[in-house]
Amino acid sequence: PYPTYRRLRAAGPVLWRDDVFQGAWVLTRHADIELALRDPRFSSQRTGGWVKRIPGVDASLSGRRAQAGLDLFQRLFGSAMVFLDGADHQRVRKAMAAGFHPTLIRTLRADVERLTDELLDGLDAHAGFDFIAEVARPLPSRVIGLMLGIDREDEARFMAWSDDLAAFIGALQPTADQLRAAQRSLLQMVRYFDALLPARRASPGTDLVSRLLQAEAAGELRADGELLAQCAMLLFAGHETTRNLLGNGLYTLLTHPDAWARLRADEDGMTLAIRELLRYDSPVQYTGRRVATELTLHGTTLGRGDLVIALIGAANRDPERFADPDTFDITRRAGSHLSFGSGPHVCIGAGLSLLEADVVLRAVLRRWPTLRMLDAAPRWNGIAGLRGLAALPVSVS
Ligand code: HEM
Repeated sequence: PYPTYRRLRAAGPVLWRDDVFQGAWVLTRHADIELALRDPRFSSQRTGGWVKRIPGVDASLSGRRAQAGLDLFQRLFGSAMVFLDGADHQRVRKAMAAGFHPTLIRTLRADVERLTDELLDGLDAHAGFDFIAEVARPLPSRVIGLMLGIDREDEARFMAWSDDLAAFIGALQPTADQLRAAQRSLLQMVRYFDALLPARRASPGTDLVSRLLQAEAAGELRADGELLAQCAMLLFAGHETTRNLLGNGLYTLLTHPDAWARLRADEDGMTLAIRELLRYDSPVQYTGRRVATELTLHGTTLGRGDLVIALIGAANRDPERFADPDTFDITRRAGSHLSFGSGPHVCIGAGLSLLEADVVLRAVLRRWPTLRMLDAAPRWNGIAGLRGLAALPVSVS
């Protein structure tokens, strides 16, 4: 996408595109995107409206049941924290925050290491394996499953449901089929969590679902599916993104042998390197906002209700923010990348995904210093918003 972002940036800072979500403003500059993510004139409530304008959706909505199904989907989807504003958002974020406290995340390190070793021990690197299928996909799902207290045998179902959500959420022009699949899968996820609740209420654990139930009992979460919506979206957010940090990260390191060699010699460089990996090839390429109060940006008026697409992937390569932005440099201090967003909605799981990347990349580097790609041009997943590889075949020489 990066040559496209360059072209868009050259065309102007605020561009109207009909081919994005049935019409949206597209931002490419780091400063403008930071503003859109932090300024309350840009609302996070953006899920309504355009969904019904997806070609083919109207036709399928003639029946009352179909309409009710879509309404329920929109209500659940729209009550995920990432789509809330102001006081509602603060309330839900507070209820979740304890589950992501840095001290708690640090205590997960041993579990993440154990889960990583389990996966890596089962691989024959001489014969070759697909890093995405064997490591990048299962690990984050196992970790978020552990946090939510989900049985391992349910993992495959979850990954499939979550993939349907990813295909819908990450599409620049979602189709009616993608919407239907996302709708079906979100409802199945919600039903699954709903079935877990009585047992968790009866004997709460230290898992996130139990914490959220306590918040609900204390009146901090509404009892109309708000809790279920957070669980489903956490499961999605916890693994679709980290998978691509692991996959894009290993791919970038393997295609930059100098960086790989440098990290082998000095593992302490890993923290900076992961920041640069996030900047260089962000797992989340864009997010959206809706204009809540009309405003003028670089001489262009953005009307109330207009949709805005903030191209995080372009902000991270903005030459006004990063010198020589298309060069991957593991010594760069790339802390101001926007891959985790910015402002009130800044990613709550950032610490967790950094931990996972740190554990996995160190383990791979130590075990297989001579790792190489078996396919010089691996396949990408084709999801515009959630950039990642479909497969990354590797082996040791
Ligand atoms: C928010 C990216 C991992 C849960 C966000 C946002 C971004 C992002 C860009 C802000 C969206 C916006 O403002 O519109 C990423 C990336 C990840 C990652 C690149 C991995 C490399 C995780 C993990 C979890 C998680 C592991 C949970 C276990 C969330 C939640 C929000 C969020 C719940 C909404 C926060 C709010 O609205 O206050 N993430 N994320 N993310 N992320 Fe992540």
